[in-house]
Amino acid sequence: MHSSLIVAAAVLSVARAQTRSEKRGLVFVPNKDSPEDNKIWVQDGSDLTWYYNYGTTPAPAFADQSQSDFEFVPMLWGSIEDTSFLDSVNTLIDSGRNISHVLTFNEPDGPSQYGGSDIDPSKAAQVWVNNIIPLSEKGIKVGLPACTGATTGIPWLQEFLGQCSQLISTDGNDKNCSYDFVTIHWYGNFEGLASHLGEYSAAFPNKTQWITEYNFDNQDLETTQDFYNTSAEYFDRLDSVSRYSYFGSFRSDDSNVGVNAVMLNNDGELTDIGSWYLGGTATGVQPQSGLAGRNQVGVLLAITLALIGGLLI
Ligand SMILES: *[C@@H]1O[C@H](CO)[C@@H](O)[C@H](O)[C@H]1NC(C)=O
Ligand SMILES: *[C@@H]1O[C@H](CO)[C@@H](O)[C@H](O)[C@H]1NC(C)=O
Ligand SMILES: *[C@@H]1O[C@H](CO)[C@@H](O)[C@H](O)[C@H]1NC(C)=O
Ligand SMILES: *[C@@H]1O[C@H](CO)[C@@H](O)[C@H](O)[C@H]1NC(C)=O
Repeated sequence: MHSSLIVAAAVLSVARAQTRSEKRGLVFVPNKDSPEDNKIWVQDGSDLTWYYNYGTTPAPAFADQSQSDFEFVPMLWGSIEDTSFLDSVNTLIDSGRNISHVLTFNEPDGPSQYGGSDIDPSKAAQVWVNNIIPLSEKGIKVGLPACTGATTGIPWLQEFLGQCSQLISTDGNDKNCSYDFVTIHWYGNFEGLASHLGEYSAAFPNKTQWITEYNFDNQDLETTQDFYNTSAEYFDRLDSVSRYSYFGSFRSDDSNVGVNAVMLNNDGELTDIGSWYLGGTATGVQPQSGLAGRNQVGVLLAITLALIGGLLI
């Protein structure tokens, strides 16, 4: 290679390795069996600035991270009858944690068998009025419910906003329930993602967007990586996207979105995507590699050989 090409290639690879973004966060799925995996997301040099865990309280694994280092965003996951979410966020604030954003309702338009919270929009509106409006009035930024990527999402949200408006309006005094950002999930290819964001912009204009779960699930590795690169570049470039979090932060064997759509292999090592997401360079680690991924036959064979070896001695 000509020396100027080598220099150009070197500059390019440095530029790529430094693709970092303040927008990136973690959808935290804790690993109970291998808790060392939980520390990877906050290791030195990690690009991730915020996280959520579908819950109301910060993850014990990140107890030594301050709110300004790694912002915890509480989520009101599903239907509740009381003000326990509001109370819990107020308790965090009273303890000195600067909660500035909250997420609401995980896939309320989706069935529980696929992880949705499956809530009627009118019920969700009542939960919102009881728990979210008081936080909004305190200046906390509140996100619209995080619907599935299906076509049911926008109609569900419009019905929800209509119901919410009815709950707070009185005769001669129409009011709307306000929100600060729109929360979006997407599983599919890049063209579908771009058009999905466009539909949300049209339905909920002038609101910043958070993409809180996304992937091109169940694809071969090259397609998965190509989607990852294209979508990360897109989110970083769009002013209308203020945050995004890639799904998922788990090992290949634990994945429900396909073996390649993961940031860890089966030994808990960062895959290329995992390392890129944290702001690093490719690791060359294949998603399906690692001990835990070896098939049971192989393990049985190893045990059998060890036993035979033991008998011979
Ligand atoms: C609380 O967090 C918000 C948003 O991250 C920030 O703008 C604000 O300065 C923080 N307040 C304090 C007291 O740290
Ligand atoms: C409430 O929102 C609807 C739909 O966006 C809009 O047409 C209406 O003018 C709003 N009402 C108030 C009081 O802001
Ligand atoms: C969007 O925001 C801009 C600037 O704040 C404002 O001029 C415009 O009217 C808004 N558009 C809608 C549809 O609310
Ligand atoms: C993705 O981007 C990385 C650099 O960030 C590059 O090395 C890799 O070849 C790209 N992969 C695809 C499939 O585009």
